[in-house]
Amino acid sequence: MTPLVARPAALAEARPRKLDVARIREDFPILKRLVHGKRLVYLDNAATTQKPERVIEAIGRFYRTSNANIHRGIHKLAEEATAAYEGTRKAVARLLGGADPRGVVFTRNCTEALNLVAYAWGRHNVRAGDEILVTEMEHHSNLVPWIILAKEKGAVLKHIPLREDGTLRLEALDALVTPRTKIVSVMMVSNALGTINPVGEIAAAARRVGAKVVLDAAQAIPHLHVEVGRLDFDFLAFSAHKMMGPTGVGVLYAKPDLLRSMEPFLGGGEMIREVRLDGATWNEVPHKFEAGTPNIADVVAFSSTIEYIEELGMEAVRAHEMDLTRHAMAELRKIPSIRILGPEDPARRSGVVSFVDADLHPHDLSQILDQHGVAIRAGHHCAQPAMRFFKVVATARASFYIYNDLDDIEVLVEGIRTARRCFGYDQRS
Ligand code: ALA
Repeated sequence: MTPLVARPAALAEARPRKLDVARIREDFPILKRLVHGKRLVYLDNAATTQKPERVIEAIGRFYRTSNANIHRGIHKLAEEATAAYEGTRKAVARLLGGADPRGVVFTRNCTEALNLVAYAWGRHNVRAGDEILVTEMEHHSNLVPWIILAKEKGAVLKHIPLREDGTLRLEALDALVTPRTKIVSVMMVSNALGTINPVGEIAAAARRVGAKVVLDAAQAIPHLHVEVGRLDFDFLAFSAHKMMGPTGVGVLYAKPDLLRSMEPFLGGGEMIREVRLDGATWNEVPHKFEAGTPNIADVVAFSSTIEYIEELGMEAVRAHEMDLTRHAMAELRKIPSIRILGPEDPARRSGVVSFVDADLHPHDLSQILDQHGVAIRAGHHCAQPAMRFFKVVATARASFYIYNDLDDIEVLVEGIRTARRCFGYDQRS
């Protein structure tokens, strides 16, 4: 099986160095604010992450010193802006373990990147009776574009079912993948359950029938060391804002030749080579897929995020999140009414702990936690089919990142105990 988390040989045996959380917290101005008079305990990182000062500063610096449109002007500012924007493309390629920068397309977010694949590849290659395979745990952004495509084309949308432990029923794979399968699109890590999926095995099944493999890496790239050269896929999508980068920046990565073979997604300025009144030809990739003025300042600032995360080291990020997850799961299990969704083993999950308390609605719990300065997400996490599988309408979800520590988990658990007392449960706990 292709490893999801590639470990550089030199690091394979070494224990990653520990993150200095106290020092890291100094980099995040928002963590200094109070919420309802309490220290902010931010545990909603799967929704979006906080930004270090250097990223906030990079956005301001761009507007203060280099603001201009890119790839157009030949004046000094335009050249600086273009170089900075293209510099981020190279930084993304580096982050992905030496990918080809020409395969890095900037979009608005991961959702748009996945829609780009559905429209620019799917619409031209999927026909009536063809099959698209997803999983039962997908985020709506890797489900709805395929629902739309299947409806338009008369194609069949299938899914790899879930198991009670929050992993995928892979034994169903052989029957689900058929010669009609054109696309297999799966999330690498579940935002709702925390499950790390065996995407290598799924890709191998897709390859046997020549299907395209799409990876929704929104919850993987920010938390795991992912080397594109060691993963088998055609398209990989993720968002900057879930890894301490600005909002409004997504990435689609694909081999340049595949991008060249595709029709454009959006038409407009910059994505063309030549336009006549009766036709047009397309720019070289990746520009062919970046119509109009992009989110220049935020893309530029995203390179500061990548540098920051590289300085921390993905191995250390992963080890830190696993420690927090292990500790949070152990503490939550001490409350008998709580059921944690997803795999038992922290090594098989990311820093997402989704749970239900048999006595409390997740929204009530979230509201009371908020009074204690604790931000979690309560809801269906844009994964309604997964919620339906577990027969819940919503869960409470704590999701961790580099600036969280064991104290945060203590405040979370104490807040849950307080919420239970407020509703008349566990009077003596
Ligand atoms: N996909 C984001 C989440 O899981 C919004 O919260």
